[in-house]
Amino acid sequence: MPVKPILVVGSLNMDQVVRVPRLPVMGETLLGASSITFVPGGKGANQAVAMARLGAQVQMAGRIGQDPFGQQLKAALEDDQIDTSLLVTDTEAASGSAFIFLNEQGENAIVVSSGSNGNVGKDQRQMEHIFDALEQVQALVMQMEIPHETVELLIERAHSLNVPVILNLAPAHPLRRETLSKLSVLVVNETEASLLSGQPVESLDDARHVGAILHEHGIPTVVITLGAQGAVLINADEQGQTNIIYQQAPKVNVVDTTAAGDCFVGALTVALAEGQTPADALRFAIRASSIKVTRFGAQSGLPRRSDVGE
Ligand code: ADP
Ligand code: NA
Repeated sequence: MPVKPILVVGSLNMDQVVRVPRLPVMGETLLGASSITFVPGGKGANQAVAMARLGAQVQMAGRIGQDPFGQQLKAALEDDQIDTSLLVTDTEAASGSAFIFLNEQGENAIVVSSGSNGNVGKDQRQMEHIFDALEQVQALVMQMEIPHETVELLIERAHSLNVPVILNLAPAHPLRRETLSKLSVLVVNETEASLLSGQPVESLDDARHVGAILHEHGIPTVVITLGAQGAVLINADEQGQTNIIYQQAPKVNVVDTTAAGDCFVGALTVALAEGQTPADALRFAIRASSIKVTRFGAQSGLPRRSDVGE
């Protein structure tokens, strides 16, 4: 029997990257330290590519513009054998773009122009196709670079079909507790965890605490990523008690942290879909994302299964 695909509904952006000696301040004109590089990105597309490179069957639904970037974003998915039959070309909006300034420490400042990503969910025909696809997928993966109403609607629909939903709440957006309780896995970074919970998340202890609160609100598995510190995963043990697993990230030579979180989400999803334990899935996701940060670009830097190992 063929494996059911993992469906990503989300954003595609052309990342337009300029290296800078430092990030500019308000009102400043700064000369870049490189010519511009165009790299396919967008949280949805990055997570789709991360999963495909790690060995999953992946389908991606989203919207591109009628411009050359749109075609390049689609081709990038197809290069990684991702099913693009649910990608629609939008006749009103341009393809999503991200303008990324990357400093010498590998840190970035990003402005996203959503473009056609902002219309995901507004086209009833496309939504019907997504609803149909949901009947035959293994899991649904989403982020918040498409309208939140669309994300909420798809969480409801997937939940009613018993399809597990992995939500990366990035950028952060408040969601009702009832909606959150229909997720299978929530992945957030420190900033997002803080915005969602209304509590500071500045240390590993804060992350443990906030993760446990979110878990007790009804989310079966909560993961908070902590950049160079690694990540914590909070779920329930066999007795139903709150269980917290921390995994440190290895020390690596950081080149570009763009899409580290996306790589993490993709790897975690693939490992869980393969039936790995949460602790093993967490280790796998940390390993994959720590490789990502040593390489340039969003999709261009995502590792393959052979790079990460089992
Ligand atoms: P986001 O990119 O969404 O802000 P994080 O910064 O928390 O997310 O990074 C996600 C994951 O990427 C981390 O949990 C870690 O595994 C890996 N990672 C990020 N930065 C580093 C780093 N400097 N060194 C090693 N691993 C890193
Ligand atoms: Na971060």
